[in-house]
Amino acid sequence: MTSQTLLLGQTLQFTADPFTAGPDAAHHDSAGGVLIEGGHIKAVGHGADLRAAYPQAAITDHGDALLMAGFVDAHVHYPQTGIIASWGKRLIDWLNSYTFPEEMRFADPAYAAEVASRYLDLTLAHGTTTVCSYATIHPASVDAFFTAAQARGQRVVAGKTCMDRNAPDGLRDTAQSAYDDSRALLRKWHGQDRLSYAITPRFSPTSTPDQLDALGALWAEHPDCLMQTHLSEQTDEIAWVRSLYPAARDYLDTYEAHGLLGANGLYGHAIHLEPREKDRLREVGAALVHCPTSNTFIGSGLFDMAGLVAAGQRVGLATDTGGGSSFSMLRTMAAAYEIGQLRGTPLHASQLLWLATIGSARALRLGDRIGNLAPGMEADVIALDLASTPAIAQRSTRAQDIWEAVFPTIMMGDDRAIRATWVSGQRLV
Ligand code: GUN
Ligand code: ZN
Repeated sequence: MTSQTLLLGQTLQFTADPFTAGPDAAHHDSAGGVLIEGGHIKAVGHGADLRAAYPQAAITDHGDALLMAGFVDAHVHYPQTGIIASWGKRLIDWLNSYTFPEEMRFADPAYAAEVASRYLDLTLAHGTTTVCSYATIHPASVDAFFTAAQARGQRVVAGKTCMDRNAPDGLRDTAQSAYDDSRALLRKWHGQDRLSYAITPRFSPTSTPDQLDALGALWAEHPDCLMQTHLSEQTDEIAWVRSLYPAARDYLDTYEAHGLLGANGLYGHAIHLEPREKDRLREVGAALVHCPTSNTFIGSGLFDMAGLVAAGQRVGLATDTGGGSSFSMLRTMAAAYEIGQLRGTPLHASQLLWLATIGSARALRLGDRIGNLAPGMEADVIALDLASTPAIAQRSTRAQDIWEAVFPTIMMGDDRAIRATWVSGQRLV
């Protein structure tokens, strides 16, 4: 018989979307349990009931830690791990000064392997079990990332970043090689274990129309793949896009005109959107990815979470490491809260946690497999200590409900709050 593990602790399960259903969208049990079998969640319920129903299960008791789904980070650049927190530049200068020189180093597969491992270990320690990452232009940087994730049993999405202009020598491919390399990587990795491939044009300034066409054609040949790119992050960038694509109606049109707008598209940042862009994104059911620590760190602007969600957009949440200044989805939720406050629309703790799990999982079209504690879901679970520092503990002891108990950890927590991380039922942290 397959071995069973019963995790005991407080449990948090979403039963609806808190943006529409409010804080009642979740079920909290202060003495709950999660029964894991064969890498999947078999049952979630009251701890005592599960103990009685599954007497043979190996029990680990996590006391009053909160058992919940592992975090899902819908937009990261694992190759930027080493340059996180680089000072003083806005987007284009930041790319040229810090990012491109670092991404050049990934021509060395040994360096790529070292950073991929370091990145996944760091993020697992922060409770993130799934990420959707850009690699660099080097195919071996994709191999390195998928190899490291596969060794950890993780569900991840990644793709080779494509750039054939406005990038330095050594960091450009061509329209044809981007197509050929992406296709070969897709065929090699997509659907292997828990890995999936995302077609990845970096953003329209670093691709020629020919390259966007080639990647649009590849996506049409593999419509089940995700396609990830950047959209309307900074005003200077938008002006540059306008000068590079004079015939385009707006930034989104540079993708749309080349077959790169679709339901499986992920558009990072999406801050300064025109009405037409919002309409088209919603019509096709594309996903927007909010990267709040990046948007404040690089000085990009204030994403309109409340307005976009109310208008029916699909939205995920992400660190955007290393433009983002953190590996932590807790810190990322805090920044999303602060940006909401600056816009006059604070997000509730239930909405923040939903975005960091189900919202991002749905953005990645993985909402049926990860992002929640529910029978049949893959067993990517974390145990969150709601009193991980004296400052957090003294605030959370006053809490009247689970949302008030978890909010200080959202606002002030870091990797010390992650007591354990399970991936596919295996404890990795
Ligand atoms: N736009 C194009 N490339 C990047 C990147 O690496 N980070 C961020 N934040 N924005 C981008
Ligand atoms: Zn990015």
